[in-house]
Amino acid sequence: MADQGSGRERWGSRTGFVMAAVGSAIGLGNVWRFPYICYQNGGGAFLIPFFFALFTCGFPLLMLEFAMGKRAQGGAPQAFHAIRPFMAWAGWLACLCAFVIVTYYCVIMAWSWDYVWYSIKMAWGTDAEGFFREHVLNLTSGPGILGVIQGPIVIGLILTWIAILAILWKGIRSVGRVVLVTVPLPALCLAVLAVRGLTLPGAVDGVTYYLQPDFVKLTDPRVWLAAYGQVLFSLSLGMAVLAAYASYLPRDADISNNAFMTGFANCGFSFFAGFAVFSALGFLAYQTGVPVQDVVESGPDLAFITYPTIISQLPFWAPFFGVVFFLMLLTLGIDSAFSLVEGFATPLRDTFGTKHIKVVIWLCIIGLAIGIIYVTRGGFYWLDIVDHHVSDYGLVTIALVECIVVGWIFGARRLRREMNETSEVKIGSWWDICIMAITPLVLGYFLISSLIKGIIEPYGDYPAWANWVGGWGMIILVIAISIFLGTKYHRKGVK
Ligand code: PFF
Repeated sequence: MADQGSGRERWGSRTGFVMAAVGSAIGLGNVWRFPYICYQNGGGAFLIPFFFALFTCGFPLLMLEFAMGKRAQGGAPQAFHAIRPFMAWAGWLACLCAFVIVTYYCVIMAWSWDYVWYSIKMAWGTDAEGFFREHVLNLTSGPGILGVIQGPIVIGLILTWIAILAILWKGIRSVGRVVLVTVPLPALCLAVLAVRGLTLPGAVDGVTYYLQPDFVKLTDPRVWLAAYGQVLFSLSLGMAVLAAYASYLPRDADISNNAFMTGFANCGFSFFAGFAVFSALGFLAYQTGVPVQDVVESGPDLAFITYPTIISQLPFWAPFFGVVFFLMLLTLGIDSAFSLVEGFATPLRDTFGTKHIKVVIWLCIIGLAIGIIYVTRGGFYWLDIVDHHVSDYGLVTIALVECIVVGWIFGARRLRREMNETSEVKIGSWWDICIMAITPLVLGYFLISSLIKGIIEPYGDYPAWANWVGGWGMIILVIAISIFLGTKYHRKGVK
């Protein structure tokens, strides 16, 4: 790629950039979130709202974030600053939310490291649930009691942060090379697991549950909101990552085609993951003689309880499939994790002129230190509380602000024209409608309704103070730091 003489680091190739964006998008959520949400929200019929959300929100916002990062030649704060200097805080908010996410995302990867080891010995025996909750996490009775640090998880956490540091050490060019391994490898693992899953008894029942269309569900607005939520989280939107990655593109780089490739690759992976997950669930239902709906799980419970239970029941090579599954989680997670760190490192370096490696080392140390809270015995509760609040409110807020700032302040048409100058596929005025009307309306509704719900009925069974500290308190803190950085950055101007 041409350097344009700006002196800014560049991706080694276009493939490197697209693969890095795909790697960020394809993460744990594709395996443990999409199949479940699809099943829960109408099965095969869910593909309708999903594709609607993908075309009205996913692709438009992918293009918007790519275009903003590329035109500013900087991360999210620079991208907002280039549009209106006083909006830089919104970019910092995205960076900080990304950093909050990575502090716990790495803890989930730490569990996965441990489970690669446990799989070799099939350490969970016949009680995967007891093993996870009582042995691995060693849970306390609630978030009020943190308890001691869990040694094996800390080891996994340190390994994860060392991996992130090593990958980001040499900058964006090495990221472009690493993703050539970390993107295809989990896809290969998934293929192995899908073939294994689909050849097990009961698999057809499982897949039928996954895709059985229930069109009545489409009349429920919550199903449509679920589709938007999934598209945002899954494409790593609203998190400063894509703007940072796009800032290393030369000014004549394509936008629309790269966005389409990223979006389709991610959604294809999610859809395919559903076959691996639900065929295995079908097998579990068959083995235990219970209906499929009674074994369906999502999130950590799926990965660390249900899946190990399934692995124990496999007729042969159980440890092998266990290792493949947890290696898949690790390789899925790592490129999402380092993208979240890079999303923050890029603007910090651009703003303060510090050396890239210095910024990355500090972020890794701080990320590891914060992660220690989550590896205590009560840490799981905090992980859950923080995750809920950042991904339900933070992400949607930032995406909404992006739409308003670009759609109504900068001008959707103006940015689209800029994009079309260098893009292979020319985008029509449908993009403006999505950015100015459809997406902000849906996201605004989403945000208001989830805020009302969050205030009326606090999340989970946690005491109110815990939701205040880990949820609202954390959100207020993050916003305050963003405003501080935004005003500081505003004074410094673009470097
Ligand atoms: N897209 C990732 C997943 O589906 O697991 C998670 C994620 C990564 C969200 C990076 C946001 C982000 F910036």
